[in-house]
Amino acid sequence: MRRHTRRAIAVVGVVACALTAALCIPSMAQEMAKEKICQLCHQKDQGASPAVTAKYAETLHAKAQGEGPRYNANDGAAGVGCQVCHGPGAEHVKAAAETKKDSIGSPAKLQAREARMSLCARCHAQYEVQGENPADPGFVTDYKYGDDILSKIRLKPMSAEKTKLEQVNEMQNSLHFTSAIGPTCIDCHTGHKDLDPSLPHQTTDAGNAVCLKCHNPETADVRHCTATFPADALCKSCHMPDNRHIIKVAPAG
Ligand code: HEC
Ligand code: HEC
Ligand code: HEC
Ligand code: HEC
Ligand code: HEC
Ligand code: HEC
Repeated sequence: MRRHTRRAIAVVGVVACALTAALCIPSMAQEMAKEKICQLCHQKDQGASPAVTAKYAETLHAKAQGEGPRYNANDGAAGVGCQVCHGPGAEHVKAAAETKKDSIGSPAKLQAREARMSLCARCHAQYEVQGENPADPGFVTDYKYGDDILSKIRLKPMSAEKTKLEQVNEMQNSLHFTSAIGPTCIDCHTGHKDLDPSLPHQTTDAGNAVCLKCHNPETADVRHCTATFPADALCKSCHMPDNRHIIKVAPAG
């Protein structure tokens, strides 16, 4: 109970801080960048969104370690921060209870397919930036939540040896990428909400279920696979060799 009270005080303090940003030390901007502010309300035992921060902390995004902006997206700190995927959160922190939900974004809330894809593609694709940036730094730095970056980047071909952050390059020749109704990353991967630690790489479902939730095994195209190959064959062993999202396979024969 005492822990609860102390946290409640901390939350009140932060919210008061948010409302009177100029008077706060450290400043609102610093607090927002560090994102400790998000954790205050989104801790495991808070009512708002149970277990969100605990589950997020288990992801490779929270633990990511490497060089450059793809790995240090949290205002230069290690890891991929909340606001990378949810957009700016300052209004949300200040918002009244009734408007809390609508005051913050999410990949799942982005209606346009290009926008949903872009949010992840910024880091999970290797590309050159067209136009604006003659230096081609290979990373969109002026991205804002909801932007379509696909129209301004030039995807490189998939590399011969698998690298960590090129899933879009892998799938670029498949209908999964080119079709207007193809799946986006979050159709097969969770952000963290329904994260099941027993499923590899934050996938939404186990084994072939991740494919069969959209592909009916009775339709002619998939029946070719299910009828020809052993029942326990994994879709991904042919369509995603070495976990690469190639999906399209050369027609047999
Ligand atoms: C003062 C408390 C508070 C703080 C600080 C706070 N949130 Fe929230 N947040 C809430 C509450 C309460 C809800 C649930 C609203 C509802 O379900 O009606 C919520 C909901 C959300 C949602 C879900 C929105 C949806 O569509 O369901 C996201 C995403 C979110 N917060 C992200 C953040 C991020 C990122 C931060 C840090 C920048 C943050 N929150 C800081 C209280 C807070
Ligand atoms: C890599 C992108 C990503 C990052 C980083 C991320 N989230 Fe999320 N978040 C999502 C997605 C996608 C969803 C929608 C549900 C799902 O697929 O997990 C979501 C859902 C939520 C929800 C709604 C959960 C519910 O119960 O409805 C809250 C709250 C939230 N995130 C808060 C946070 C906070 C706080 C952080 C930082 C500690 C964070 N998120 C970091 C992608 C992300
Ligand atoms: C700011 C850059 C950035 C953004 C934006 C981003 N990621 Fe990542 N993601 C990373 C990094 C870095 C890793 C860790 C790579 C490694 O070290 O293997 C990672 C890892 C992952 C993994 C592997 C998890 C595991 O357990 O193996 C998945 C799945 C993933 N991201 C999905 C997404 C999805 C879906 C989105 C969009 C909602 C997204 N990412 C947005 C940088 C990003
Ligand atoms: C059609 C479903 C599907 C889509 C769409 C999809 N993935 Fe995956 N992804 C998978 C599966 C299945 C695995 C392998 C899981 C396993 O190990 O069994 C995987 C693995 C991964 C991995 C780990 C690769 C490794 O072995 O290190 C990352 C990172 C990843 N996906 C990111 C993404 C990103 C980013 C997007 C969007 C650009 C995306 N995925 C779209 C199904 C999908
Ligand atoms: C969210 C729904 C969804 C999921 C999940 C999904 N697919 Fe698909 N897939 C589609 C759609 C839609 C198309 C066809 C788009 C069209 O015809 O325009 C497609 C097309 C394909 C194609 C044809 C690709 C091409 O370029 O010719 C293959 C192969 C395929 N999917 C395999 C898989 C496998 C393997 C998985 C699991 C790893 C999977 N799909 C998961 C929706 C999905
Ligand atoms: C042993 C390898 C293998 C396995 C396992 C496999 N497939 Fe296939 N799949 C193929 C090949 C090869 C083709 C192309 C066949 C052709 O066009 O003649 C194909 C074609 C497809 C197509 C149609 C693509 C198009 O051009 O329209 C879909 C959809 C598909 N597979 C889905 C799946 C799903 C879902 C699973 C898991 C239940 C699966 N496959 C398992 C090898 C495999």
